[in-house]
Amino acid sequence: MSLTLAIIKPDAVAAGYSGKIISHLEAEGFKVCAMRMARLNRTQARAFYEVHEGRPFFDDLVEFMTSGPVIPTVLEADDAVRRLRDTIGATDPDEADEGTIRKLYAESKGRNAIHASDSDANAGIEINFFFSSYERLHL
Ligand code: RTP
Ligand code: MG
Repeated sequence: MSLTLAIIKPDAVAAGYSGKIISHLEAEGFKVCAMRMARLNRTQARAFYEVHEGRPFFDDLVEFMTSGPVIPTVLEADDAVRRLRDTIGATDPDEADEGTIRKLYAESKGRNAIHASDSDANAGIEINFFFSSYERLHL
């Protein structure tokens, strides 16, 4: 078993899709290990997506991720990182496979409902970003 981080993004929280997205994840076999609601400030959003600093979409991404509450969630499954990427679908919902979370719930490439870690190393970093060692000890 391994862990990954999902974040239900501000568009999906505001639209009232949080429950449907959590149900979808559980139906796909992920175990919810930790979950909270957070409101990122600009410094936090810039740090979380620092790998994209300098890209043309970076300012819009930070603006969007700070626009409302988000729900960071630690998920456990076999091969969790790869399976979650498959479950959420392509970054642009127009390119996402039928039945994926982004196909079902995302508005656009910029407002795309959910984040997922892209490697085991980044999953560890991203889980640490939102959850304390105390919380992780009790997973
Ligand atoms: P995420 O990190 O949020 O799970 O998304 P991702 O891996 O599918 O995509 P990534 O390349 O990491 O990009 C992070 C977020 O930036 C926005 N983006 N916009 N306009 C564009 O060309 C563009 N490219 C990326 C998306 O909202 C994407 O989720
Ligand atoms: Mg990414």
